[in-house]
Amino acid sequence: MITKLLSVLAMLSATCATYAKEQVVVATQNTSIVFTIGDNGRLYQSYFGKKLDNAADYALLPLGKEAYLTHGMEDYFEPALHINHSDGNTSTLLKYKSHATTRHEGYTETIIRLADPVYGDEVAMHYVAYEKENVYKTWTEISNKNKVTLEKFASSMLHFYSKKYFLTQYDGDWASEVHRHTQELLFGKKVVDSKLGARADMFTSPFFQLSFDREATENAGKVLVGTLAWSGNFRFTFEVDNIGGLRVISGINPYASQYALARGETFRTPDFIFTLSLNGTGTASRSLHDWARRYQVKDGLGDRMTLLNNWEATYFDFDQPKLLSLIGDAKKLGVDLFLLDDGWFGNKYKRYNDTQALGDWVVTADKLPDGIGGLTEEARRQGVKFGLWIEPEMVSPKSELYEKHRNWVIRYDNREEYYFRNQLVLDLGNPEVQDYVYGVVDGLMTRYPDIAYFKWDCNSPITNIYSSYQKASQSNLYIDYVKGLYRVLKRVKAKYPNLPMMLCSGGGGRTDYEALKYFVEMWPSDNTDPVERLFIQWGYSQVFPAKVQCAHVTSWNKDASLKFRVNVAMMGKLGFDINLHEMSAHDLAYCKQSVTDFNRLKPLVLEGDQYRLISPYEGNHASTMYVSKDRLRAVVFAFDVYPRYSEKLYPVVMEGLDPAATYHVKEINRADGSQGSVTAYSGNYLMTVGLPLFTGNKLCSRVYELTAR
Ligand code: GLA
Repeated sequence: MITKLLSVLAMLSATCATYAKEQVVVATQNTSIVFTIGDNGRLYQSYFGKKLDNAADYALLPLGKEAYLTHGMEDYFEPALHINHSDGNTSTLLKYKSHATTRHEGYTETIIRLADPVYGDEVAMHYVAYEKENVYKTWTEISNKNKVTLEKFASSMLHFYSKKYFLTQYDGDWASEVHRHTQELLFGKKVVDSKLGARADMFTSPFFQLSFDREATENAGKVLVGTLAWSGNFRFTFEVDNIGGLRVISGINPYASQYALARGETFRTPDFIFTLSLNGTGTASRSLHDWARRYQVKDGLGDRMTLLNNWEATYFDFDQPKLLSLIGDAKKLGVDLFLLDDGWFGNKYKRYNDTQALGDWVVTADKLPDGIGGLTEEARRQGVKFGLWIEPEMVSPKSELYEKHRNWVIRYDNREEYYFRNQLVLDLGNPEVQDYVYGVVDGLMTRYPDIAYFKWDCNSPITNIYSSYQKASQSNLYIDYVKGLYRVLKRVKAKYPNLPMMLCSGGGGRTDYEALKYFVEMWPSDNTDPVERLFIQWGYSQVFPAKVQCAHVTSWNKDASLKFRVNVAMMGKLGFDINLHEMSAHDLAYCKQSVTDFNRLKPLVLEGDQYRLISPYEGNHASTMYVSKDRLRAVVFAFDVYPRYSEKLYPVVMEGLDPAATYHVKEINRADGSQGSVTAYSGNYLMTVGLPLFTGNKLCSRVYELTAR
């Protein structure tokens, strides 16, 4: 007994002697995160907040909570890490080993290495801090010398200590995405997660806002905005503990995903991206928009193409003459690209509806006798680009692919198949399937090098959750699917670096920042009713720039004028998905004018700073503005939705302008094609008094262009 005690004491003193009080500071321009190595050698998060003026003050901070809490030790709340060792021991204890920071143009990267002295589990916490944008990206690498199973493996754990916490989440359903809901967090756990496998979102988006002390508004309050860069199951856990502290754990959803790690293998978690704004959600959004364009989204700083899509104009009902005429329409409209949607493939089983042919990526010969080549040729002749819809991860049970490669499909051999939108998901964890999916794009590009754009869809979550490839490691299925997808997308990007693709998943199922590394833009929702879109675009704009939000003019909501529909779509990346032949000459002329206006406004809407002036959640009106980075130009959109009788109409007070500059304000994009008169105002006036932009009319919209003189 005494010998045992002595050896424990000897071990303790050895550890104590090794650790002086040392701190690791990860900082951006406005905020900092401070970690302290405790006397016991463990790593604590001592601070996350406004950067302190004197760096020396960091030494005065209380120790705080253990930064990356592990299962099996003294903490009684949700851990970030839980490892099952092969001897049956499920505990992990992490001690600080080393850290290093490297500087890059615009950001720093800090790696803190921790290790379990008993089992040799190693954890490397990565923090990339983007200085100017005040954005952080963090992930964890977990490795072990022996074979282990990861039970819980968070990307990030953050600790807060405030009087109150308010969580805003964005949830909904298909065609009803990103509805904002806020609640106060009290003792206990609130979990926001998804279990859809091949996408993050259908019911709830992989991002949140968390305000401290009081609910943040657009321009006031301390608020954390976080999002997980992962196109599969995610989980955010918010837990208020016994002393009123809040832990925020973000990562892959560990649900049914115990991950088997071979000896010496490293598990890298997805990135958790976050920003802490000290003055409201507007600043947080603009920080994320800047960061996304500069560092994350494919061709984030490049131009975007306006387009005409045939989906809502034809659905599956088209043939070659109809498409040739639509390509001509794209030219007439003045857009950059014609996009052919679902319905062009399959011969044994033809894609006449959504019940068959997914997987058979060959042109339906009797529908399109001259193939895709005939269409790209016409597009070339008309001077527009040609884009094509694909859904390469999916298979219809009625398809040649299914008949040939049933073992590539995620399905049960011993149960009846269950279908989501009449289709099944291919097993992307299987390298053979990865080659096949890559081959869909590569094959089409090789045959038809004039394809200038893909819309990559993914309409089904993973169903019938069994992989014949994974055999005994079924719980790797969810994670390996997403990793397999990224392997494919990486190969596509490497071979076709300049090929733009739109990310779609039955509407907004894949609205996450990891996928956006491979896509230039995304489809936020199948709901294109402009009133709904005011809310949907508002919701996504919390985290994603307008540049990645495709917004198409369609014939949804016949009560709304064409102008209203176009104006809503002009607040994102403009496109059309509408039958031009049903339009009057006047309406067609209006759409053409709108394309011209949008092209002129692109530097504002797609590259500028977005200010959400009046929220559609506040009542019957909405207004958003975009200001160029040099503050010389701006555009303001104002919408009256369903105003009440005799409603009070308040002026719209603008933001982001130069108070000292004089702006010429002109209404543009008017329904009758006339030019609005120009009035001059100072930036100060516009940002103090504002302009009366709202009316009492239902479904009414106006657009104002501001130019500094
Ligand atoms: C999904 C997409 C739509 C359209 C259809 C085609 O629902 O979100 O835009 O491409 O698939 O089947």
